[in-house]
Amino acid sequence: MHNSIESIMLNEDEIKEIVGRLGKQISADYSGREILLVVILKGSLVFAADLMREITVPVKIDFMQASSYGSQTVSSGILNIKHDLETDISGKDVIIVEDIIDSGNTLSKLKSVLEGRNPASVSICTLLSKPSRRQVDVRVDYCGVEIPDEFVVGYGLDYDEHYRHLPYIGILKPSVYTKP
Ligand code: IMP
Ligand code: MG
Repeated sequence: MHNSIESIMLNEDEIKEIVGRLGKQISADYSGREILLVVILKGSLVFAADLMREITVPVKIDFMQASSYGSQTVSSGILNIKHDLETDISGKDVIIVEDIIDSGNTLSKLKSVLEGRNPASVSICTLLSKPSRRQVDVRVDYCGVEIPDEFVVGYGLDYDEHYRHLPYIGILKPSVYTKP
């Protein structure tokens, strides 16, 4: 185990099982249709790569990078789109792929932006969710696992751009982010 990790929350086998279950669920729900996965960079990269290989219906992929400002004042918060989709999503069945939903601010704004582009549907798939941290109510259609309020890294998730490459999801030692 990496020496900045306090403990492992989900090991490789557990992640594989969760991702497999999400892929099956999505494939069943979208039977006879084609999906566009909208992958939210950078954290969802690893999850999306595994998830798309568990989906058995036709699937395309595109990427978006966004962050939100003004998380205290949700309605006036601005969504800053750093990288937008190449795909015209009108008439498409879109699934937003997110690594973790914390306050829900980013995702709820992103969802309304995408809904404004006339897709056939928009749903949300997240690997992790911290329900105790939610500030905005977002409907999560596919949720891998609900976790307690701990800061986790690995499997795409970072702290200051580090640890994304770890194959498991671990709780970061507080000493890493608590400056003396
Ligand atoms: P929110 O739901 O708008 O608050 O933001 C969610 C984003 O915050 C995620 O996409 C992550 O980039 C980041 N985030 C929240 N919790 C964690 C965590 O435990 N580890 C790593 N990143 C996190
Ligand atoms: Mg991050």
